[in-house]
Amino acid sequence: MDKLIIKGGEPLNGEVTISGAKNAALPILCASLLAETPLQLSSIAALKDIGTTLKLLEIMGVKVDRNADKVSLDASEVTSFEATYEMVKTMRASILVLGPLLARFGSARVSLPGGCAIGPRPVDLHIKGLQAMGAAIHITHGYIQASTLHLPNRRLQGARYYMDLVTVTGTENLMMAATLAEGTTVLENAAKEPEVVDLAECLNKMGAKIAGAGTDIITIEGVEKLNGTNHNVVCDRIEAGTYMVAAAMAGGEVTLKNVRADLLDAVIDKLREAGAEVTVNGETITVKSDGKLKAVNVRTAPHPAFPTDMQAQFMAMNCIAEGVSTVIETIFENRFMHVQELQRLGADITVDGHTALVKGVSHLDGATVMATDLRASASLVLAGLVARDETVIERIYHLDRGYELLEEKLAALGAKVKRAN
Ligand code: EPZ
Repeated sequence: MDKLIIKGGEPLNGEVTISGAKNAALPILCASLLAETPLQLSSIAALKDIGTTLKLLEIMGVKVDRNADKVSLDASEVTSFEATYEMVKTMRASILVLGPLLARFGSARVSLPGGCAIGPRPVDLHIKGLQAMGAAIHITHGYIQASTLHLPNRRLQGARYYMDLVTVTGTENLMMAATLAEGTTVLENAAKEPEVVDLAECLNKMGAKIAGAGTDIITIEGVEKLNGTNHNVVCDRIEAGTYMVAAAMAGGEVTLKNVRADLLDAVIDKLREAGAEVTVNGETITVKSDGKLKAVNVRTAPHPAFPTDMQAQFMAMNCIAEGVSTVIETIFENRFMHVQELQRLGADITVDGHTALVKGVSHLDGATVMATDLRASASLVLAGLVARDETVIERIYHLDRGYELLEEKLAALGAKVKRAN
């Protein structure tokens, strides 16, 4: 089991280049199933979840050609419409093949994703949306068995569908399914995340007719077929936010390159409120800090509000900030797994339901802690950067799912971090 060893107390200075967004790349890779000619992508980060998705698509018969951050996907000869439990249990985002398979081939057998550390994470809205488009769906033996072969022309039918909850991958799955449906689909209460917008931009370049992505009403006019295109995946706003918090906590001056400040308004506002100096200049953001921060209250909600994927990182920052703060998690049922690990480092946090009360302490002390999920792991790295002495983070395979070259990027900024097994 890989672990990270961090010697805390070093300021961070220099430049870091942000990679392509994991949560944009995952649906866009699955969108290749919709196309009759190759989809050429760039800014595809070297992440475990990306590798898992490419392996799943290859098993289905998609020809995948990868060279550094460039990936070409040719789905002209897909032979299998199945995503097995073995594949889905390692990555729940595999559910994103369901919509494209149904739309293009009229048939799909996808394992129900299990829950995960941060909550049960059902996919009932994905299923209800596809049923609204006419799909016949049966859940048997832990699998979603879906078909459109009973429908006119064996095609999904355009529909108006209101999503009870804002769901990012639910919106993405249904948007992809609707691109090849007969007629027009309207998704109401749609997710507005930048990754949904990036997927829509890629799909429109492939020949789809999608309007309203980025708002809560997305209209998709079905077309006969989609073709490949060239698409550069949007930068990873959560990776960027994580390095911005690292700089604010450790102190120093860090410039992020290949980043879009317009995707990070809520995070930038909160960092400024905490006392960090954040300067935006085109596609770069510079964070300057003396490491002395004020505690800030955080409440997660769908974009453009404060992102749940930045909650754990801000909790780590509040642990060593001056004052008392509340961190309220409204999206997931159990996204406080990092709390007990931060407490091992000396943090003063009290949890009551979806609210954590954080009292800033003068310092944290290094210890051995355990990563439990992707963003919780990131918060432990941030805490380790400022804790006294040495922090050892175990089970860092969680980190490898979402952060490309993390220890290399941090070490280049001056952090004393190394991987050990
Ligand atoms: C996406 O997950 C992201 N993953 C998550 O990022 C992110 O935390 C989340 O959106 C919220 O922004 C990817 O994009 C691959 P949801 P997703 O469906 O789509 C409930 C990371 O760290 N819900 O928006 O699975 C659900 O239980 C990961 O990169 C239903 O009840 O999240 C949750 O409480 C973690 N039924 C809420 O909605 C459904 O059918 C939001 O979930 C779907 C969702």
